[in-house]
Amino acid sequence: MTTNTEFKAWRVEDVDGDYRGSEQTLSTADLTDGEVLIKVSHSSLNYKDALSASGNKGVTRAFPHTPGIDAAGEVVESKTGAPAIGAQVIVTGYDLGMNTAGGFGEYIRVPAAWCVPMAKGWNARTAMIYGTAGLTAGLCVQKLLTMGAKPEQGKVAVTGASGAVGSVAVEILANLGFDVVAISGKADHSDALKSLGAKEVVGRDALAEDKKPMLKPVFANAVDTVGGNPLAELLKQILPGGSVSICGLVAGPQLNTTVLPFILRGVNLLGVDSVEIPLADKEVVWTKLSGEWKCPKTEASAKDISRAELDGALKAFLKGESAGKIVLDHSRS
Ligand SMILES: NC(=O)c1ccc[n+]([C@@H]2O[C@H](COP(=O)([O-])OP(=O)(O)OC[C@H]3O[C@@H](n4cnc5c(N)ncnc54)[C@H](OP(=O)(O)O)[C@@H]3O)[C@@H](O)[C@H]2O)c1
Repeated sequence: MTTNTEFKAWRVEDVDGDYRGSEQTLSTADLTDGEVLIKVSHSSLNYKDALSASGNKGVTRAFPHTPGIDAAGEVVESKTGAPAIGAQVIVTGYDLGMNTAGGFGEYIRVPAAWCVPMAKGWNARTAMIYGTAGLTAGLCVQKLLTMGAKPEQGKVAVTGASGAVGSVAVEILANLGFDVVAISGKADHSDALKSLGAKEVVGRDALAEDKKPMLKPVFANAVDTVGGNPLAELLKQILPGGSVSICGLVAGPQLNTTVLPFILRGVNLLGVDSVEIPLADKEVVWTKLSGEWKCPKTEASAKDISRAELDGALKAFLKGESAGKIVLDHSRS
């Protein structure tokens, strides 16, 4: 019986408007009610965790709080029987790490309906290499494919290409045979993006603000992880009938565009939400990521960190300096 088990968590406190994270000892009795208690071995780092840890009230309303929108580990208590005690599970999205204590703690308690069985051939670390970012990249690719995207149509752009979502999108699309143009602000990351399979790497100035309402079409399709003005410029450069999957807002939540790309070129803008979609839809993409969409290079280049390294790693996200996939391993000291 694990009720009242003590555990370590990286918890953020509001000290007069200054949000500070540190390792603390908590008890499972402190966790909110839920059907399933999970001993978390690994979590994954996401931009949203950085927002939560820095006091963004759109993500986390009340502090102290344990962030971590992703978690993988073993079920140690189950009120429903499914998932059963001993099962390895993945939990991403819904309220995890937002206002429910998240994967930066060694235990989480959640509804059974948030738990996906571990994908075949994966362990908790592998699942967290992909995490919400990998799931989102998979959903973005899936939307493009559903709209009929094919490699022979031409180049596919990926913005924020060195980031957690972007880098996985680059590798999946390259493995599917697409000519990927990685758009990145990190000049020193060009080789890494090419090793993930990008055919070309171009700087963010490819999407610099241009007053013209439409530009020469360059890309057949695109995955956009940044939003804001770069997305508005990208839409002007999509070939007729092309599609753009969008998931992010690091360059801003506003989209100042005209209707022209949509009505003159029939461009499709496809919104992607990885958080609240039905569990069965998440499971479809997890299965693909563990099989036909597997990303061996992302898996090989993932970086493992300890709880003590979370603070620096999360700050890098807010500065747009983070690259690739970062996994929190609770067994690291
Ligand atoms: N809709 C969903 O369900 C969902 C799920 C997961 C993530 N997201 C969102 O997707 C976005 C990306 O998440 P992530 O975890 O991949 O974050 P990330 O690792 O920080 O990657 C974002 C990347 O965008 C680029 N970038 C940063 N600041 C920028 C700016 N001001 N202008 C243009 N590009 C900028 C950087 O890549 P380069 O240096 O290579 O340009 C950065 O690495 C976030 O907004 C996140 O909230 C949404």
